[in-house]
Amino acid sequence: MKKILMPVVMVAVLAIIPYVGVEFLKLDYLFGVVIPYTATALFIAGFLYRIADWLIRPVPFRIPTTAGQEKSLDWIKRNRFESPYHAWEAVARVLSEVLLFRSLFRNTRAELHKDASLAYASDKWLWLGGLAFHWSLLVIVLRHTRFFFVMVPGFADFLDHADSFFDVTLPAFYISDALALGAITFLTARRFFDAKVRMISLPTDYFPLFLIGGIVLAGILMRYVVRLNIMPVKDHMLQLMHFGFDPPGQIGTLFYVHLFLISVLLVYFPLSKLMHMGAIFLSPTRNLCNNSREKRHVNPWNSDIRFRTYSEYEDEFREKMKKAGLPVEKQ
Ligand code: HEM
Repeated sequence: MKKILMPVVMVAVLAIIPYVGVEFLKLDYLFGVVIPYTATALFIAGFLYRIADWLIRPVPFRIPTTAGQEKSLDWIKRNRFESPYHAWEAVARVLSEVLLFRSLFRNTRAELHKDASLAYASDKWLWLGGLAFHWSLLVIVLRHTRFFFVMVPGFADFLDHADSFFDVTLPAFYISDALALGAITFLTARRFFDAKVRMISLPTDYFPLFLIGGIVLAGILMRYVVRLNIMPVKDHMLQLMHFGFDPPGQIGTLFYVHLFLISVLLVYFPLSKLMHMGAIFLSPTRNLCNNSREKRHVNPWNSDIRFRTYSEYEDEFREKMKKAGLPVEKQ
């Protein structure tokens, strides 16, 4: 229980800090300019550092995880995507992983039955919940580009229309908002109610879920409940995009809660498991071609070994070998 309560309390405290800071202490400048700039700079630096750190690690051998036949003899049928041979096959495999969570589709659930038999069954819920979570957040973030550019980008406009397709409520209800909230609830409940997953879950597994949940909740409240005026938000974001340092206009306090939690997320991101966003592209178990049968991969940092041939060995020990009665090649 402590593993869950701790991150809940942390996110609650993080939400209260900007509320008190802006509502009572009038620290709009700190929460609207200083903290967002600092967090963005730390995010970019931290993200690049982690990526560079992975990029410089040598990967001398082929270690892709495969689930299919490697290319070998012509008459043996190979599996292009489960065991990629060409670079484009490896790229397609990584992309299908990133966009469709391909390997998670194979997820299984183990159950111990009353007669002590262990049964495995396919479990698609995690795959579906994970997809809903990531895709809805992506759509929400892409739609948000309307705050950062004078002209709303075409794709943001398209997403806006598609996402508010049902055209219910005023302002129009976004499908992605409901999906994001539902997926966060499902992913949290799964960790909590499944005893096996609960056991291996850490506060660092719950914290990002609650933090993102807090951001989404603050956003939903702003849109449907508090009805924030978004013009001063857009003005402020546009000037931040041009590296301006003007104080923000009159914006409701809830916006600062939203923005502060996002700033925390940005700083936390490079330090946490959320880096899987960049890591998936660099993972050698996913992005390498499986061509070990065709090409010998030699470890480039093997120390130089001075080999001695048998004849050199025999030259050195011939007399001793003869004395010991051992056979020699040259007399
Ligand atoms: C991790 C990044 C972010 C997430 C997950 C997120 C999430 C959300 C969600 C779920 C909503 C509800 C309405 C909607 O879906 O559009 C929302 C609204 C809002 N967000 Fe964000 N947000 C993020 C970043 C930002 C940033 C950087 C800003 C700064 C401009 C911002 C400003 C707003 C505003 C002003 C609203 C109210 C929109 C309206 O009334 O239509 N958000 N956010």
